Amino acid sequence: MTSEVSIRPALPSDRQTIVEFTRDTFEWGDYIADEFDGWLDRPDMLVVVAVDDDEHAVALAAARMLSPSEAWFHAARVHPDLRGRGIAAQVSVALRAWAAEQGASVGRLLVEDWNEASIRHVEKTGRRRVASMVKCTKSIGDASPSPDGNGGRRVPSRLRARSAHAADAQSAFASWSIGELGRASHGLFGIGWAFRRLTVEDLAAAARGSAFWEIGAGWALASPGPDSRFAVSWLETREEDADDLLRSLVDLGIGSGSESITIWIPNVDWAVRVVRRLGFETELMHVYASAL
Ligand SMILES: CC(C)(COP(=O)(O)OP(=O)(O)OC[C@H]1O[C@@H](n2cnc3c(N)ncnc32)[C@H](O)[C@@H]1OP(=O)(O)O)[C@@H](O)C(=O)NCCC(=O)NCCS
Repeated sequence: MTSEVSIRPALPSDRQTIVEFTRDTFEWGDYIADEFDGWLDRPDMLVVVAVDDDEHAVALAAARMLSPSEAWFHAARVHPDLRGRGIAAQVSVALRAWAAEQGASVGRLLVEDWNEASIRHVEKTGRRRVASMVKCTKSIGDASPSPDGNGGRRVPSRLRARSAHAADAQSAFASWSIGELGRASHGLFGIGWAFRRLTVEDLAAAARGSAFWEIGAGWALASPGPDSRFAVSWLETREEDADDLLRSLVDLGIGSGSESITIWIPNVDWAVRVVRRLGFETELMHVYASAL
């Protein structure tokens, strides 16, 4: 059954109703109330709402351009009393049309593995699962009671991360593109919670911003972020070097004074085994894509 709703761009005046029905979306709450006003001001984003006959917002979702040809869809929320009626699909039609008008040829989104309703919604609306990514998190430094996850003393890496140069970008990119991690990532890397295609220029730009690291025979994009969180958005390594590379990223995070470290890796067995052995908590998520 499809509910009778109309779809339109969100307005500042929708805030109150949206905040009311999104307050307890997840066990931990929701971030929509904190982000909504800022999103409306961004020229690279569109927030769309579904409204009922009384013009009250009952659903929303957002799209953002991550590159001239890649859109990212997120923040799909339907009022708990109106779920299961295809409203999220109606909202997504408007977002896809906007993204195509902006020049996007592909639109992607991320769904957590446990979120069956969302997986049903995205698979019914023609999206294809293109990569499975694992968000790995761990407390480090003083905030970590058992630094290696086994209560033992932290074993520093045998490898030291060195600042990589823009000239290394091409080799790192080539190694990753033909390696297991690049293939499993479908060429994508994380920007916060969003994913787009990695380019050689991304690595070169990160080198200029001191966020591109060479570690033994591998590489990583890593830098301290807000909330004392050291963020590793991309890495390239081989199975035999993975333990050392990850330990050296933890060392780097500790050296930066961060209290926790977050690493995105594709869902490749040996990589997940290593992060778990090092005491990281892991959350499995899936990137879906559709042509626009
Ligand atoms: C995910 C979500 C946006 C889907 O919106 P929707 O308009 O309900 O989507 P659909 O009508 O296509 O239903 C999708 C699935 O939800 C499940 N569903 C059906 N009725 C439901 C209900 N009353 N409550 C919860 N889930 C229900 C069903 O599995 C359904 O699939 P099916 O119709 O093939 O059986 C909505 O469930 C929601 O707001 N969830 C909380 C926020 C969230 O998880 N957002 C996505 C983050 S990636």
